[in-house]
Amino acid sequence: MLTNLQSLIPHLRPLISNPSSRVVILTGAGVSEESGIPTFRDAQTGLWAKYDPLELATPDAFARNPKLVWEWYEWRRALCRDAKPNPGHDALAAMEKFFARLVIVTQNIDGLHRVAGSRDVIELHGNLQRDKCSRENVMVERANACTTNDGLLVCPQCGAYLRPDVVWFGETLPRDALERAFREAMLCDALFSIGTSGLVEPAASLPRLAKQAGAFIVEINPAPTPISEIADAIVRGKAGQVLSELVRAMERLGS
Ligand code: APR
Repeated sequence: MLTNLQSLIPHLRPLISNPSSRVVILTGAGVSEESGIPTFRDAQTGLWAKYDPLELATPDAFARNPKLVWEWYEWRRALCRDAKPNPGHDALAAMEKFFARLVIVTQNIDGLHRVAGSRDVIELHGNLQRDKCSRENVMVERANACTTNDGLLVCPQCGAYLRPDVVWFGETLPRDALERAFREAMLCDALFSIGTSGLVEPAASLPRLAKQAGAFIVEINPAPTPISEIADAIVRGKAGQVLSELVRAMERLGS
């Protein structure tokens, strides 16, 4: 198995000059860590330090205490709105030019890949900047919503609470996004798994599926994950630094 960036380059070289090359980039919270957005499994800070995110991001938690869950997401929404793409996001946007097709499949709900300029992004877990009706599952613009006395927003059609358009634990993923992600994983030549703990299904299955279909699997993560076991190349480091170096190395190949 390969464990450094330089040994990875010869494996990417044939894809760079290939007009039918397909690359999938699976990203997780680690990619946004350098933008100041805490990963889910890190200790949370400030006001929210005493809460376990895994117990707030569920339909049950929202049914029990909608105000608590709404306020937690408002905090996260503000964090994400103020965050800027980091060199990792920028490098992934720049990588599009090296491959005939590059698709980002992200578990992140912060929208930073698109802000950085990536053009083909599949958001598996939704997007924090959108709201939907918790009963009818339809998107609602905040400007059209009504506000309750306790500061929550409700659907103008049915009066149910609005909730963020994100996937909570125990919920199914958006069907179109998931189907496309699986198709891309089965057809790709290389899959990069970056900044994800590989613990949450079905995203965690994508590298395995790609591997079974013959793709070259690369992991970029400072820590081992279950995906490490099937990776053909592993670079232990932060996404921003490793991906910036990778783009520079690919640029040298092209010049
Ligand atoms: N660069 C690369 N990887 C990093 C960095 C970094 N700077 N910092 C941390 N990591 C790695 C960690 O080692 C860990 O493996 O990022 C991973 C983050 O793991 P999680 O917090 O579990 O995030 P993720 O895999 O995206 O979680 C999947 O589960 O929490 C739910 O719905 C939420 O989308 C999320 C999903």
